[in-house]
Amino acid sequence: MDDIERAKVRVAELREELNHHNRLYHVLDSPEISYADYCSLMMELRGLEEEYPELITPESPTQRVGAAPVEAFGVVQHPVPLLSLANVFSSDELTAWHKRTTNLVPGREMDFVCELKMDGLAVALTYIDGRLATGATRGDGYRGEDITQNLKTIRSIPLAVPGDVPTRFEVRGEVFLSKAGFEKLNRERAEEGKPLFANPRNAAAGSLRQLDPQVTARRPLDIYIYGLGYAEGSRRMPDTHWETMEYLQSLGFKVSPYNSRAATIDDAEEYYRSWLERREGLDFEADGVVIKVNSLALQEELGTVGHDPRWAVAYKFPAVQATTRLLDIGVSVGRTGSLNPYAILEPVSVGGVTIRRAALHNEEDIRRKDIRIGDTVVVQRAGEVIPEVVKPVESKRTGAEREFEMPASCPVCGGEVLKPEGEVMTYCTNTSCPARVEEQLSHFASRGAMDIDGVGEKLAASLHRAGLLTSVADLYSLHRHRDELLRMEGMGEKSVQNILDAIEGSKERPLARVIFALGIRHVGQEVAETLADNYDSIDKLASASQEELVAIPAIGPKIAESIGAFFRQPANRDILERLKRAGVKLEGKAQPRGDLPLAGKEFLLTGRLETIPRNQAEARIKELGGSVGSSVTRKTTHLVVGADPGSKLQKARAQGDIEELNEEQFLKLIE
Ligand code: IVH
Repeated sequence: MDDIERAKVRVAELREELNHHNRLYHVLDSPEISYADYCSLMMELRGLEEEYPELITPESPTQRVGAAPVEAFGVVQHPVPLLSLANVFSSDELTAWHKRTTNLVPGREMDFVCELKMDGLAVALTYIDGRLATGATRGDGYRGEDITQNLKTIRSIPLAVPGDVPTRFEVRGEVFLSKAGFEKLNRERAEEGKPLFANPRNAAAGSLRQLDPQVTARRPLDIYIYGLGYAEGSRRMPDTHWETMEYLQSLGFKVSPYNSRAATIDDAEEYYRSWLERREGLDFEADGVVIKVNSLALQEELGTVGHDPRWAVAYKFPAVQATTRLLDIGVSVGRTGSLNPYAILEPVSVGGVTIRRAALHNEEDIRRKDIRIGDTVVVQRAGEVIPEVVKPVESKRTGAEREFEMPASCPVCGGEVLKPEGEVMTYCTNTSCPARVEEQLSHFASRGAMDIDGVGEKLAASLHRAGLLTSVADLYSLHRHRDELLRMEGMGEKSVQNILDAIEGSKERPLARVIFALGIRHVGQEVAETLADNYDSIDKLASASQEELVAIPAIGPKIAESIGAFFRQPANRDILERLKRAGVKLEGKAQPRGDLPLAGKEFLLTGRLETIPRNQAEARIKELGGSVGSSVTRKTTHLVVGADPGSKLQKARAQGDIEELNEEQFLKLIE
């Protein structure tokens, strides 16, 4: 055997040994060798790889921190969207969820898996031929950021998995920072004079979204895998969530040791109650428990509603409270001109997080709760929600407290304010109030809207103050002000070009996003999507009558009125005209649905598909102009029957006129 052959054998031995000990230490928390011994193995491997660089592979244990910094993250399309979870906050709400769920699949046995809900960042890890190929953030659920190099630095994520595994599969999990790791990180940052992270979740997110993987590598991040996104290839996969987790654990993934099976919903509630008392003792932040239907066949049958699966629910822990002093009440102006009071607090730690500001909602709310400036108040933080002031502690009053008065003019522009009849909010009436315009600009450019990378709150405000932007339409003439942009603080050739490119790219956004971006009151992302489904251009939407609008399911009179009012304003019409002239696409799907091969057909899927993930199958049907139903109705035209079909099959057969397709036939149809 020559030298390189010998090196090859030794390199393979070392990798196997290092992977084994890495897993014992980082995944199973039970090391067998000392850190020094581990290091000497690693050094031997490094030495050999330096001598024979041709032996280096991306999944070698030496490659966890090797990558160079990047300029920006790439985008990863999630083949199966990453969903979120519906929340419940009480035993009654949980019971109602259980009732709804069991009613959807009458007569079927149902057991559950209970898990802690880790408060970190969702990621999706894709393995191809047994090797970690990509790691991505959740993003908006459909598209995330490619953070593979950063995820590779997390020691509990396997770079390769052994044996007979599906050729391509994706696992999902939560990356988080332990409470201890968070405190240590903040201590170091305080010493270095850097801004502190508000909570472990922000710290984890900030660490994962570092452009330099070496920085991520120094943060003590960890992961628990909680799901399988999809798996392709011949291997037969388990039938339950519990067994899937056991299988993933056997492959070397780190699965939470706190997972538990529950035969009934009462057992699941017991799991919640036991953690409610013990959660403070956990080394990471958990904001609730997740209860999942165990059978994957039932999960498929239950399906999703909006962005949430019907087969899982988050039972949230109640908010954490503290008392502190209300130093003052400030007023900010939102994008609709609403005057929003907020509490300025003596800094206080609530569940390990320092709070300085809290929401106060509106004037009426302040009166109703009788909150006065100078009061000692109870504040609370509830998971995602911004902290809020709950109530005053009346026994602590000294008599020096002052009642809050809404300013008589806009605190930002000094303009006239108005409180419309029957509304709780007060509004600044000046449509060019700088605060309003700046909020509108950053909303327009934000992620769910036109998604213009680089144009955030800060830049929108500076551009507005510099006189370069007075309305969203001005974004599309910014390229004429390149020199002024270059003169702005912190802007170089490259960043200016990136921003201009991002603006140019945003002209092609789908109609629903444009509608949402306009910032019409009461028109959120979902309503915008409904509108785009019903009108194929902004012009048609703008001329829709109130009657026409309210005839659309999900559009009520309040929304319809607000849409009407928006398009009646000459200033808004002017903006639309300018957007159109700039080349922003203000039309929906140009291709008439009727021309597509599956137009007019409604599909229903039942049972497990072996070769294509269900969501991909659904997406493909829609792409081809068809629709996907959730139960057998008069409109159903086709039923796709996978393995172990559910009750839909009998119902469809009973109806008589529904075409049945097996997986092979279905694949041919959508090819
Ligand atoms: S299951 C469709 N399990 O909570 C199922 N999620 O609001 C969705 N999370 O983005 C995920 N711990 O990042 C699941 N044990 C757990 C979880 C968990 C934390 C996060 C996850 C997701 C969010 C849902």
